[in-house]
Amino acid sequence: MPCQIISGKKVADQVKDEVKKRVKELQACGKTPGLAVIIVGDDPASQIYVGNKERACQEVGIHSEVVRMTATTTEAQLLEVIDDLNKRTAVHGILVQLPLPRHINEEKVIEAIHPEKDVDGLHPANMGQLLLGKPRFIPCTPYGCLKMIESTGYEIEGKHAVIVGRSKLIGKPMSALLLSGNATVTICHSRTKGLAEYTRKADILVVGVGKPNLITGDMVKPGAFVLDGGINRLPDGKITGDVDFPSVADIAGIATTVPGGLGLTTVAMLLKNTVEAVKYGG
Ligand code: GUN
Repeated sequence: MPCQIISGKKVADQVKDEVKKRVKELQACGKTPGLAVIIVGDDPASQIYVGNKERACQEVGIHSEVVRMTATTTEAQLLEVIDDLNKRTAVHGILVQLPLPRHINEEKVIEAIHPEKDVDGLHPANMGQLLLGKPRFIPCTPYGCLKMIESTGYEIEGKHAVIVGRSKLIGKPMSALLLSGNATVTICHSRTKGLAEYTRKADILVVGVGKPNLITGDMVKPGAFVLDGGINRLPDGKITGDVDFPSVADIAGIATTVPGGLGLTTVAMLLKNTVEAVKYGG
């Protein structure tokens, strides 16, 4: 059986259509959802991601503001901007694009965002809610993974899910989501010995480490569902994931691609979280 490729665009477009409808309903009640994105420094990849988020907001009618700060911005200056956005009722969601310059404490910054505006779902209060199975905001990439899986009708319950990577953006929240869906979850990371022994046992394999071609076809169980959360820029400028797609596509049952996969759903889920945030009042 050839591997089924899930279109990130198709899933993202469905989510965006729902968001668009919800925005219209909210606007009819005099409320326009608002998202503020803060970017510090001039990392080219981050600039592209933020531009994509801004454009997506425009597409669905969400008010968007991008706060661009120089690489020499101090932590105190950034915290002040967050504090102002926390107070503004027109801003329902706040996202600080990561990574931040090294002199700024990422944890402190995330904790400064009001949990009811943390549409990235990274605040400890929101991570805690997610772990308890009562999420307020689900981090956007894992949320997109879930949508991708749901779009195929694939049953998570009872499956063995193996996650490669323990980041706060992908691995950790994804493990909580799959556990809530009654999968049996194994988390692998950079110190895992014999990675392939684990990945070969995965019915669902989620990868998010930032290492091009880490997962090859011989590491995948025949028929597995493979979700690639990696976004890596190769020396020739091409974007690739963490999965060696040509070899994995011969073995996997269903897979996402990079580009064309989770990058698109990540943005769509951010829009969804932003309209959800309106219920907290801004
Ligand atoms: N950088 C790469 N992905 C993300 C994301 O989902 N959220 C934030 N805040 N920064 C990122």
